[in-house]
Amino acid sequence: MYDKILTSLSYGMFAIGVRGDKAPNACIVNTVMQISSLPMTIAVSVNHNNYTNECIKKYGEFTVSVLSENTSGTAIGALGYTSGRDTNKLSNVRYKMLREGAPVIQEEICCWFFCKVVNTVETVTHTIFIAEPKAGSESIKGTPMTYDYYRNVIKGKSPKYAPTYVEEKEAEAEKYVCTICKYEYSDSLVPFDELPEDWICPICGAPKSVFKKK
Ligand SMILES: Cc1cc2nc3c(=O)[nH]c(=O)nc-3n(C[C@H](O)[C@H](O)[C@H](O)COP(=O)(O)O)c2cc1C
Repeated sequence: MYDKILTSLSYGMFAIGVRGDKAPNACIVNTVMQISSLPMTIAVSVNHNNYTNECIKKYGEFTVSVLSENTSGTAIGALGYTSGRDTNKLSNVRYKMLREGAPVIQEEICCWFFCKVVNTVETVTHTIFIAEPKAGSESIKGTPMTYDYYRNVIKGKSPKYAPTYVEEKEAEAEKYVCTICKYEYSDSLVPFDELPEDWICPICGAPKSVFKKK
């Protein structure tokens, strides 16, 4: 139920750049937000399984590249769907190294900033890194890409470790409501039409014929 409500929240689209042990790395996130202005802090939520999480913990710093509507889907795919643990993702993406040692993406981004971590909060699946921006680009170019633009214009999806991931099948499933007891049948596994004619509501035992599409 809350999955649907939470899809109405707005986000931007970013690449987090980190130093790595063998090579620099970057991953796509949609969860960067400003937390306070004095002192200036931002937060980002990074899954425990992402290599980027390990690198931020190790080096205590990262860059944020703010993606624009002109950033290619190919660059987002390269950084958002494979892990720097197994592959050098940046070999196929344009980037520059900062003096500080972290990469900034050069794929039509709007702007970038470099941050040092000041605090972390652990959740069951993600670490929230709270960090202070220490350096950044001097100008902003183009229109920042929103998560909504990524989903509805580029038609991109969210992979498993993105906080906004919902089982696509469940999200797209049709719902049928029992008009007697209000039980909701989700047809993500078996389409409603394919249920046998003698199928009954598992809650009140009413026949299939009383169900109405939601
Ligand atoms: C649109 C989009 C949004 C994402 N948002 C996040 C996010 O906010 N936090 C996160 O941990 N992973 C997020 N991801 C998933 C990571 O980018 C993905 O797991 C990546 O492969 C991690 O790479 P790494 O192992 O090199 O760190 C997102 C991916 C996409 C495509």
